This record gives sequence, structure tokens and C-alpha cells, in this order.
Amino acid sequence: MCGIVAYIGRSEAAPILLDGLRRLEYRGYDSAGLVLSHEGNLQIRKSVGRIQNLAELLGKSPVQGHRGISHTRWATHGAVTDINAHPHTDQSGHLVLVHNGVIENYLTLREEMEREGHIFHSQTDTEVLAHLMGKHLSELGDVTADHLVEAVRRSLREVQGTYGIAVMHRDVPDFIIGARRGSPLVLGIGRDENFLASDVAAVVNHTRDVVYLNDFEIVLLRPDTFQIQSLSGDGRDYEVSTVDFEAEETSKGEYPHFMLKEIFEQSSTVRDAMRGRLSLEEATAKLGGLNMTPSQLREVERIVLIGCGTAYHAALIGEYLMETLACLPTEVEVASEFRYRNTPMDKYTLTFVLSQSGETADTLAALRESQRKGHRTLGICNNVASTIARESDGGVYMHAGPEIGVAATKSFTSQVTILTLLSLLMGRIRNLSSSDGLRIIEELEQLPEKISRVLQMNPHLPDVAKKYAEAHGMLFMGRQFQYSVAIEAALKLKEISYMFCSGYPSAELKHGVIALVNSETPSVVIAPHDALFEKNASNIQEVRARKGPVIGVGTEGHAELEKITDDVLWVPDAPDYLMPILTVIPLQLLAYHIAVTRGCDVDKPRNLAKSVTVE
Ligand code: G6P
Repeated sequence: MCGIVAYIGRSEAAPILLDGLRRLEYRGYDSAGLVLSHEGNLQIRKSVGRIQNLAELLGKSPVQGHRGISHTRWATHGAVTDINAHPHTDQSGHLVLVHNGVIENYLTLREEMEREGHIFHSQTDTEVLAHLMGKHLSELGDVTADHLVEAVRRSLREVQGTYGIAVMHRDVPDFIIGARRGSPLVLGIGRDENFLASDVAAVVNHTRDVVYLNDFEIVLLRPDTFQIQSLSGDGRDYEVSTVDFEAEETSKGEYPHFMLKEIFEQSSTVRDAMRGRLSLEEATAKLGGLNMTPSQLREVERIVLIGCGTAYHAALIGEYLMETLACLPTEVEVASEFRYRNTPMDKYTLTFVLSQSGETADTLAALRESQRKGHRTLGICNNVASTIARESDGGVYMHAGPEIGVAATKSFTSQVTILTLLSLLMGRIRNLSSSDGLRIIEELEQLPEKISRVLQMNPHLPDVAKKYAEAHGMLFMGRQFQYSVAIEAALKLKEISYMFCSGYPSAELKHGVIALVNSETPSVVIAPHDALFEKNASNIQEVRARKGPVIGVGTEGHAELEKITDDVLWVPDAPDYLMPILTVIPLQLLAYHIAVTRGCDVDKPRNLAKSVTVE
């Protein structure tokens, strides 16, 4: 995974690299490091933990120079230690490399080089690549820019796996090499300065002119020029894009954590997801970004929704929405499964990939696989400058603003809102009447106000969280639209509190999960006052019969639920197809308060990253 930033120019590199790394911290925060070259010396600094730790180290042990490469790591190969942090060097210690991706044949290469006398200091695949480059460089003779490029090319031809890299050498001044295969890399073109980064967010404060590199391309950077070549050394045509993207400075404002702020933003982010997209005259949704005419949409006979993590859970709700409102057969796939499966898809299948960041490696691979099979593939993304947003054939932006908390919250409700609009649109060009369409629009328009209410209507929530904060585990259940909320709520709690949690359809309780029920394992039962309430009530009784505490999530004022549960979290009434957007919110808050009570790092939970950019 990881993020890389490189700079070459006239300014001091360290502040530019540090600022860029901070903007890429969503890609991993196990460790960070950089190397600057100055007057023939390489100065390497590395630190386990957040970018802030590296910044503090640089405060104590400053570096200078106008050329540098840097990295924020999410560990794949090798523990989270200073030694495994990037940059890595070759055998001579003069060639330095930062890397995003996974070198799959690193063990074979390492063993070969160990037999030749190479000594490795880390357990990483990246150090192996650095040594391989150094080995080829020494085979080529003098250390020159041309030889360095040739050594990089030869090495990249030998490795299997994925990489986005930046390389430099102590003895080749004013020169940085970048290359990519499978991991994103963007070149930022400045005046007498150039940049490389995993994501435009790291360079937009310095330049708006960028080139998105393609797989198997190498870029050679000098302060005032650059060249893009193929792996075999031929010049490549490229397109300079102007980035229309504000690197928003986000602050927590009055909130102690980004996650809490983002939970509280949902009334406005859901409104923003709908803004300008509802037509009362036509009783439908307008989604121009799909780039599809009504007759093309009419031809669609099947929808495939793909995502990872929370985006996958939103997609599961999308399946129910699409089937309920549009009567369209819908499949939901985890991106990592879809990319290797042979999911049956005919020419009437329309694919959507859902991704907040637009950078998740498996989701991107699924997009490409769907396109490779000839299917129109659309994106539902938040990050407008992301790879998925660029590569998809159209789509719908979430307009939710930056989501910084690693645990996704507002992006989930925005995705579900967009899937509701999409289902309304697909329904209206099939058999949903205009009066039904109008009714759905009216309900949608009330959502932001209901979200504001749900955020206020459970003042007892922090106490409920404290009561259950020390539980060994927690079970979550719900039916129909609430089944996906149950698994999303379980994911929220486990990722930020490290409590073992499981979510499942309520009726599955009897098929195994009930074995876990005891007085120490609370169950959250999402049981709105709907047609299936009695069924959920039976499940609640089954849990209680085994002394399991029950937290209900139910419709405001529903006395019957209150009678059969230990605690209740309330939501305003809404039709079943909109209820997930409401019921998930007190459960996001429950997860948040439990994690805070347990003293966990809510915004940056251990071992996670905001965007998983490796397979
Ligand atoms: C990571 C994050 C999750 C997120 C998932 C998909 O696992 O920690 O919060 O849901 O990636 O991310 P995406 O950016 O594709 O929506």
C-alpha cells in the first residue's frame, strides 16, 4: 500500500515532502521516512508511527537539500519497525528507493543475491528491489544517469507484482526516476521543479499541471525537464491534465475526532448527495454523470455493484433498493472476488464500482476487469481526482467532502443515498408510477431533517456505550434492509474498538451464532416498527432466554421494543427502504463512544488504512 512523494527543484525539499506525506497518510501510517541529497550526501530519516513522528525527528535532526524522495508505509512484508521503514538502499548504500506495491518474487531474488554476497537489513520486498537495481548498476560500470535508468529498467523487467516507485542515487545529481505498474503515480510539473506522488492531493498545492503515468512507464525527472518512456526506453506520448481539485485543509473544528465530526455532517452530506438530482416534474432522479440516455438505461437488465469494506455494505443495501424500487435483478460482489471470478454478465449488464477514495486496489482492478469484458462500468466515488473516477465510463460523485476518519461513516450514507436515487431512476423508466416516484422524492427530501433529529434524539447513547464498553464481543442482527446495517455496524465497532463483532441476518441466529450468546455478549437488534418487527421480537426473546443483553434500535416511541430490550437507540420513522440511512447513525455513534471509552485511537485505528491500495 503506502504513499510516495518525490521532489526535485530549487526549494527545500523536506517541507514539501512532509506536507505531501501528510496528505497521503490515508494510504497507511505504520511508519514514514524520507531521504534528501545534499552536497554529495544522502540524509535518511525514518520513524515508526505517524508522519508527525517523522516531523518531530526532523525537528531534532534536520535535513537539507533540493532533491528528495519520501514514503508513508502500510506494512505488507516485514514488521512495523524503523528498519523496515522506507527509503531502502542497495548494497552500496548510495541508491535509494521508495515503493508502493508488492514485489511477489522478492524471496527468490533475495536468495539469489544473498548467495552473491548481498546483505539485507530489513524483511521488506522493497529492499530486495533496491539491491537488484544496485546490482545491475554495478554490472553496467560507471554510475551515470543513463546507467541508473538502464539498471532500473532491467530490474523492473525481472520483478513480478506491483509497484509505484521513486529512485535516486547519491552520485547522479539532479535526477529522480519514477515508474509504475499497478500502483498509481502522478507527475506534477512545476516551474523549475517537478514532483512525483501516489495521488494528486500531494502536489496540488504546488502545481495544477499533472501527468497520470500509465503502467509500464518510467519517468525521468530533472528540476527543469522530464521525460516519459516505456520500460524499453522508447519515448511515450502523454497528456498534461489540469487538476481542478482543492486540497482542502480539513480541521476537526469543535469535535475531538474527525469520525465524530463526519458522523455529525451526515445531514448535510446526504443533502449534498441529492442536490440538483431530484426532479419533481418528472418524479425521478437526474444523474447526468452516468452518460447514458433513458433508452440505454431502459436496456439494462441486470446490475452488478462492486466494492470493498463499507462500500460493499452500501452496495448490499443497493441490491435491496434496486430490487424493491426498480425490480431489477442486482448482484453485489466484493471487489477482490469479482476480479478473479467469472461472474456471469451479459451485454445488458451495467456495472457500478463504489469507492469513497476511488483508489482501492481491488475495486480498481474490478473496474478494469468489467471494462475488459466490454461492460460499461460506472463509478460512485467521493474523491473526484481519483483513479476510479478517471477510469470509469461515468458515474455519480458523492460530494461528501473529505472523509478523514479511517472508519467510513458519511461516505456510507452518501453511497446509500445515491443508490436510492439510482433505483428511483431505474424504477421510473420501468414500472414505478409517477405518484410512487413523487412519494419517494418527498421521503428523500425529509431525510436530512430526520438525520439531524437522530443525531440529537439519543442523549443516553454515551452511557449505553460505557455500559457495554468492556464486553468481550458484540453481535449485530437485522432483517432485509437492516441486515446490511447490522454487518456495517459490526465492522464499525470492530475496526475502531478492536472488539470481536459479528453481523448477520436475524434469522441466522439459530444457525450457529446463538452459541456465542451469554450474559457477557450483548446483541444489537435493529428492529424498526415495520412488517417484520414481530420476527425480530422473537429473535430478541431467543437472545434474552439465554441471558444475552439486548440493545434495540427502533422507531421513535415504539413501547413494545422498549419492553423487551435492555437499552434502546431511537430513530425517526421512515419507509423501510430509507431506514438504513437512519439506523446506521446511532450505531456509528455507539461504535465511536465505545472506542473512546476503551481509549482507542478512533481516527487512525491500528493496522488499518483509509484506502487499501495493495491487493
Ligand atoms: C478500507 C477502509 C474502509 C473502506 C474500504 C473501502 O478498508 O478502512 O473504511 O470502507 O477501504 O474503501 P473505498 O475508498 O474503496 O470506499
